[in-house]
Amino acid sequence: MNPGVFLTQRKREVLREMGITVWVRRERGPIPETNPHSEAPVAISAECLPAADLPSVETLGWDELRSRVDACTRCEELASTRTQTVFGVGAHDADWLFIGEAPGAEEDRRGEPFVGRAGQLLDNMLAALDLHRGDNVYIANILKCRPPGNRNPRPDEAAACRGYLDRQIDLVGPRVIVALGRVAAQALLDTDLPLGRLRGGEHRYRETPVVVTYHPAYLLRTPGDKAKAWQDLRNARALMRDV
Ligand code: URA
Repeated sequence: MNPGVFLTQRKREVLREMGITVWVRRERGPIPETNPHSEAPVAISAECLPAADLPSVETLGWDELRSRVDACTRCEELASTRTQTVFGVGAHDADWLFIGEAPGAEEDRRGEPFVGRAGQLLDNMLAALDLHRGDNVYIANILKCRPPGNRNPRPDEAAACRGYLDRQIDLVGPRVIVALGRVAAQALLDTDLPLGRLRGGEHRYRETPVVVTYHPAYLLRTPGDKAKAWQDLRNARALMRDV
């Protein structure tokens, strides 16, 4: 960080939250409050056609994809225990795509990814990159349904949900993808490598560069690793500049 850079109060708070100490020369006025925005809810239309006659997921637009996800019963346990599906949120043409694991209790209740405590930290991570939810960022999960008791997604569930994520990625067309945590990174990159081996490596999803970092929930438990996450985000920002 260049100490000559003028930092807003909000940015300093965000960096402090990320475990980064910054020498500040002069303060500017506060920046406006962030205005997290959710996608407008889309009418849930029951799928009337037999599964075999449905258009394939790769051909669906945003509204049809969301309806398909809302009606999904591929994972019997998840479909019968969820309050609602959690599709994803953000700008449909975002440069940045952040991918988490699966909705938790709060996300299941509200229908939006990363709205619990981990979500607050994710918002701070975004703010450290001068990004804001809904503004040039899309946020999605490997699973669109909450695993009961917040257990890890099972491989068969990740596989069943994969087509939805692939289509979201196609539709967004991000320039950089950030995978949040081991489960997201392993599922996205189709690997068994541990997070320690994936962090800092060069990865691609199809043509798009993927940066692997810690999951915000892990960082809440292990704040000492926030500085390493910040380094990952800086790498992502450098990639974004290069792409
Ligand atoms: N953790 C995730 O991985 N995704 C969410 O949406 C919330 C918590």
